[in-house]
Amino acid sequence: MRPVQNLFDSKNYPDLIVGIESPDDAAVWRLSDEQALILTTDFFTPVVDTPYEYGAIAAANSLSDVYAMGGKPFLALNVAALPDHLPLDISSEILRGGAEKAREAGVVVAGGHTVKDNEPKYGLVVVGFVHPQRIIRKGGLKAGEVLVLTKPLGAGIIATALKQEKASAEHVREAIEWMSRLNKNAGALASEFDAGGGTDVTGFGFLGHAAEMARASHVSLHFDFSKIPFLSGARAYAESGIFPGGAFDNQAHFQASLQFSPQLDEAARMTLFDPQTSGGLLFGVAREKLSAAKARAQELNQPLWVVGEVQSGAGIKVK
Ligand code: CO
Ligand code: CO
Repeated sequence: MRPVQNLFDSKNYPDLIVGIESPDDAAVWRLSDEQALILTTDFFTPVVDTPYEYGAIAAANSLSDVYAMGGKPFLALNVAALPDHLPLDISSEILRGGAEKAREAGVVVAGGHTVKDNEPKYGLVVVGFVHPQRIIRKGGLKAGEVLVLTKPLGAGIIATALKQEKASAEHVREAIEWMSRLNKNAGALASEFDAGGGTDVTGFGFLGHAAEMARASHVSLHFDFSKIPFLSGARAYAESGIFPGGAFDNQAHFQASLQFSPQLDEAARMTLFDPQTSGGLLFGVAREKLSAAKARAQELNQPLWVVGEVQSGAGIKVK
């Protein structure tokens, strides 16, 4: 979000370590030399047609920005806009999905606010803690690091196929499972292996968020398409032209800094612009720590895909 005027820059507020002028996932305020507060909010319209899962996905997504910055969430508020005519059992299922997801994360939902709106919207305001020296930022990648991703891509494509009534039940179930999954272990892993640079993959799509990181870190990112994981069905729906509108917006907005190898066709390229809901973390790991990180990921039952590497230079190359 771009403010008209930057009233709240970190020059005037030295304890505002991460504020509105940075591309990072959440705001960070230093409380002491050992502790900083992370504050974030996110809410959106339904991505699936089952209210409980919608609530759980929205909550997992809201919590994700805290995990993406290396923090631990602990307290949250509901933010909801619900239609007047919505049956009570549907609205309470949305909130129950969110509450149970928060509890799984060890987070207390202490209240919130609901307004009337024709189109439902739901999410959380989340407060967390992070050590001020251990914040994971978009600008923290270093040349030589390996890039890892913790969830497969294609959630926007599957959600669009679902809206068009073209998605198989199995594909939708798989997508819901991944979108509902917390980035808690992924964040813990990133912190444990000293990731300085990372983000969660959400509305700007894989390459949009990667482009933000390349720019903020003053490096170039190199991806190998064949190593990038996709949800079952996502590639096939993409081949038949099923993309959410946001994928084209992302392509238009970010393609100037990108180079694709010629053997990647248009559908393959577009899958990398697909906006994700509650997507995984993308972060850098020092090459010498990679095998230990992989072993630890297995212990945590946390999927991890090595998708590319960080080099000096600028921009993004996908081969
Ligand atoms: Co984010
Ligand atoms: Co966000």
